Amino acid sequence: MSLPVVTATRYVLPLREGGSLPGVVEGNDLGTYVIKFHGAGQGPKALVAEVIVGELFRRLGLRVPELKLIQLDPAIGRSEPDFEIQELLIRSAGLNLAVDFLPGSFGYDGSAGNPGDEAMARILWLDAFVANVDRSWRNTNLLVWHKNLWLIDHGAALYFHHSWMSAEKFASLPYDASDHVFSVAVPGVAKVDAELAAAITPSLLEEVIALVPDEWIEPGDRERYLGHLLARLDQRSAWVPGGAR
Ligand SMILES: Nc1ncnc2c1ncn2[C@@H]1O[C@H](COP(=O)(O)OP(=O)(O)O)[C@@H](O)[C@H]1O
Ligand SMILES: [Mg+2]
Repeated sequence: MSLPVVTATRYVLPLREGGSLPGVVEGNDLGTYVIKFHGAGQGPKALVAEVIVGELFRRLGLRVPELKLIQLDPAIGRSEPDFEIQELLIRSAGLNLAVDFLPGSFGYDGSAGNPGDEAMARILWLDAFVANVDRSWRNTNLLVWHKNLWLIDHGAALYFHHSWMSAEKFASLPYDASDHVFSVAVPGVAKVDAELAAAITPSLLEEVIALVPDEWIEPGDRERYLGHLLARLDQRSAWVPGGAR
């Protein structure tokens, strides 16, 4: 299995809310996508985390906009006057990440209510598992679309890969739930722990890691991602918010 590949045909506009300066583009399949660039600040590893985490969460029943790979010819941004964007497009020639654009969605700020105790606990457990530090009230990286919550922006998760901290260290790295948008759900996390841990099988992890294109990953690193995530699954008492079951 692999992610579908499309080609960017028009650069529409930059999205300046985020730090990585993603853009909205049109694809040759008539789709509209948020493009996340391999040439942005954190480099292709942020895209590796987007694919592994986004596809894992989707398979565990969470709403994540569809992910595709997108070929970029920097020439499509020729008429874009901003020098910073021109440079980013040129650095990002080739394969980038396309996130299905959710038209009319807005950033979750709590005003629309919360998705319920169990849903919040599941999101909190999963963010703790992948060490996602990017789901705070300041920056929820949750979109409300047709009254449902959609999870975006997993590029800061799996941060062990920036320096390749050891699997043992990552396995027991604590997670600071107090900064998480759903920190109120800590008491309910123990109830979803066993079920989520059982659902994350080695073959499920292998499947999502296999979706990362060769262009973004070093040979041999797929096994390291698998090893780190399996080790963390084994050390739940160290990081599950409120404690593992
Ligand atoms: N699939 C999407 N549909 C609609 N808007 C999106 C989508 N993905 C991102 N956005 C908007 O773009 C902003 C930046 O995207 P994000 O993935 O969070 O990038 P960054 O890594 O720069 O924070 C989001 O805060 C949101 O407003
Ligand atoms: Mg963001």
